This record gives sequence, structure tokens and C-alpha cells, in this order.
Amino acid sequence: MSKINSKIIGTGGYLPLNKVTNHDLEQRLDTSHDWIVQRTGIHQRYVANKEETVAYMAAKAAEQAIQAARITKDQIGLILVASCSGESVFPSAAGSVQKILGIPECPAFDISAACAGFVYALSVCDAFIKTQQAKYALVIGSEVMSRVFDKDDRSIAVLFGDGAGAVVLGASTEEGLIATSLHADGNYDELLSLSHMYPADINKDDLSDYYIHMDGREVYKVAVNKLEEMVEKIIVDNGYQKSDLNWLVPHQANYRIIKSVAKRLELPEEQVILTVAEHANTSAASIPLALDYGVRNNKIKLGDLILLEAFGGGLAWGSALVRY
Ligand code: ACO
Repeated sequence: MSKINSKIIGTGGYLPLNKVTNHDLEQRLDTSHDWIVQRTGIHQRYVANKEETVAYMAAKAAEQAIQAARITKDQIGLILVASCSGESVFPSAAGSVQKILGIPECPAFDISAACAGFVYALSVCDAFIKTQQAKYALVIGSEVMSRVFDKDDRSIAVLFGDGAGAVVLGASTEEGLIATSLHADGNYDELLSLSHMYPADINKDDLSDYYIHMDGREVYKVAVNKLEEMVEKIIVDNGYQKSDLNWLVPHQANYRIIKSVAKRLELPEEQVILTVAEHANTSAASIPLALDYGVRNNKIKLGDLILLEAFGGGLAWGSALVRY
């Protein structure tokens, strides 16, 4: 019997209706378009309204991915949502997606690994499919980051955006998800943290303890080191060469980090999917949104070898080598 692989057979994305440019932020923060572009590559971000919740956007992106995969909702056998900004601990966002889309009973749960969440979720779904516990899985990254940072903190408020991206993974005898590589080191926990489960009786003036805290400079250094090491290793360990890669689809936190990873891979910018300028850092949503952008704009084609990589709070990081 041929080996069962999991293959990405459909992608989807959702961006909120409201767009906020760097110039908009200049109106209320001590910052400038030039500073933001120079340090991060970000020009604008999308910001969710009250209706555009993590679950709502996840369902929108998932619906598109299901359509692209040409399957029906009742064929979905597993739903995973990666998010660090969901509106409830339970029901899970995955359960809410199931309800919104009318997907029949199946396992559905959320994964928390900050910006690396989507790669973690892919890896879990891959295991379900390879062990034949599911034939089709929805893997979603969805974030309303604008709920979890202090809008008056210029060092954080300029960096993040909201949105959702999704893929359908399907069982296949063709080459698909070749390998995933997951990492975390909790010893770095103080560099980047978010505690948004605040007590019900909290004084609203004390909310700052429950926003994202980040030592950006230190996170930057660890991210570049760990990512460069990881991307090279996953390629070599799986018997490929850097020159085999068609596309890098990185987490879109910072253009400078992406550039350093691409340089290590000896990849020209034309082979990197870049959405950071338009989307900013959408945490767990950034890779599936970038992937969907690459597919819908006829950049990523069937048979391409692509590398996904992400780094974020935890600290947690991961990559996936994929034959699209
Ligand atoms: N506008 C203008 N000036 C600013 C702003 C702003 N928005 N924010 C900070 N500054 C100032 C600082 O106050 C500082 O001023 P000083 O020199 O007078 O003290 C100066 O700019 C430099 O600040 P740094 O923080 O050192 O700037 P840096 O070059 O490190 O860039 C950045 C900051 C963009 C955050 C960068 O460090 C970075 O991208 N880090 C990695 C972020 C990341 O990848 N996080 C992981 C994913 S997030 C997740 O998991 C949820």
C-alpha cells in the first residue's frame, strides 16, 4: 500500500475591512512612516471591527480554503485554529468555526504557540492525516492582535495587524508536507509575553499588565539566529539543497528578519512571498495569509518546493518543508 501524505489542497484568507496606514498612526502616536518602514518594512495593517472576531475571520478564510480544495464541509475530519488573541478560552475558536460553517461532529481545538502557531498546527494535522485519523483537515491561523496590545505604546502598536488564513490539508499518495520542525525554549519567556486572561474585577487602569510585552531588540537577535539555523537544517536533513527551493513563505514580522533568512538560503527576494508591507505582523495568521496571497497571485504553482518558517512568543519557532 502506498504511503499516505498530507497535501495542501486549498488556501483561503480574510482581511478586515478597516485599513490603517502608518500615516494614520502618525496622527495619534509619536512615530513616523519612515521609522516604521525602515525598522520593519510595514506600510499599513488591517484592524478588525467588533464583528470581525477570531472565529468569524477564521470561518471566512476556511470557507475560501474549502472552496479552493473542492471538497464539501461534511468531509472535514479535523479543525485546528492557531491563535493567541481569541475571544474565549472555550468554546475553542475551532469549535466556533465548526458551528459557523455547519461542519458535522469531528475533533476541533485551538493551538497556542504565538506567531509559530500555524506551523505547529500544520504539524499536528499532518500526524492525524498520516495516521488516518482524518482525511481532510482545516488548519487555520486567525488573530485580532489589536485587542491584545496597548494602542498608546508606539513600540508595539505599529507592528501588528489582524486577519486570518487557512488551508485544507488532504490525505494523498503524492508528495505534500515533507517535514515539519518545531522548537521552543521557555527560558526566553521574559522577552515576549502576553497575559490577556485578566481577572474579572480588574481596575481598568491596570490593564497594561495584560498587554503584549516585548523586548524587541533581544527577540530580533534570537529570531535571526534560530531561524537561520533551522531553515538550513530542515532542508539538508530531508535530502534537499537550498537551490531546490522555489519559495520561502516566512512569518511576516519584520522585513529585516525575512531578508536575513532569505540570504542564509541564498534566495533572491523574487522567491520570497512578502506581505509584511500590507498586512504587518498578524501572528499565527501571517503564514497562511502569505501562502494564500502567493497561490492566488499565481506565484506559487503546483509542484513547487516551499519553505514556511515562523518565530514568536514562547519563545517558539518552527518550519515546514512542503511540496505544493
Ligand atoms: N516610532 C518611533 N520611534 C520608536 C518607535 C516607533 N514606533 N518604537 C520605538 N522607537 C524608538 C525607541 O524608543 C528607541 O529610541 P531610543 O534609541 O531613543 O531609546 C529607538 O526607536 C530604537 O528602538 P528599538 O526597540 O531598539 O528598535 P529596533 O531597531 O530594535 O526595532 C523592532 C524595533 C521593530 C520591534 C525590532 O526590534 C523587531 O522587529 N524585533 C523582533 C520582533 C519579532 O519578530 N517578534 C516576534 C513575533 S511577535 C509574537 O510572537 C506575538
